[in-house]
Amino acid sequence: MAVSKRIPVEISREGHSTHGELAWSDEFLLGYPAMDDTHRDFVCCVVALRDASETEFFGRLQDMVTHCEQHFDQEAQWMRTTEFPAAQCHMDEHEAVLRSLRAALQFIAKGGAHSRVASVALALADWFPGHATYMDAALSHWISKRTFGGIPVVLRRQLPSISPGSARSEEGG
Ligand SMILES: [Fe+2]
Ligand SMILES: [Fe+2]
Repeated sequence: MAVSKRIPVEISREGHSTHGELAWSDEFLLGYPAMDDTHRDFVCCVVALRDASETEFFGRLQDMVTHCEQHFDQEAQWMRTTEFPAAQCHMDEHEAVLRSLRAALQFIAKGGAHSRVASVALALADWFPGHATYMDAALSHWISKRTFGGIPVVLRRQLPSISPGSARSEEGG
């Protein structure tokens, strides 16, 4: 019981509920292609986990952990190499996600029911738009300023989607 309750609480961010309806959209583009590619993969992993059957769930959760380890290591490396000033709170958030995912993995590995931790996919879907809009967008802008002397110009198609927030207005200013 403790594991199934702890997972959504640690990952979720209030005000960004997607009700699990996460899908890739140009709204998530941040203008740093390597980061955008990783975020596409992240969304694919979340959708695969959300849609997994009981027998598929453990393998897809392992894939999610592997993806997040690489994704977060990559961003941590970018933060270190560019001396990003707000690195610690960004990495703390990554660590909270990984703790929750590993707890879910361990829970199932020890014979726990998948239904008790399946909500971790919904929690990830709720977490990502806010994290991408605020923390990853700030990192993308920082890298672009350090590399090119300005923030990236991002062209997005007008597609109906979940709105991850105000990244567009930051870039427009
Ligand atoms: Fe990211
Ligand atoms: Fe991040």
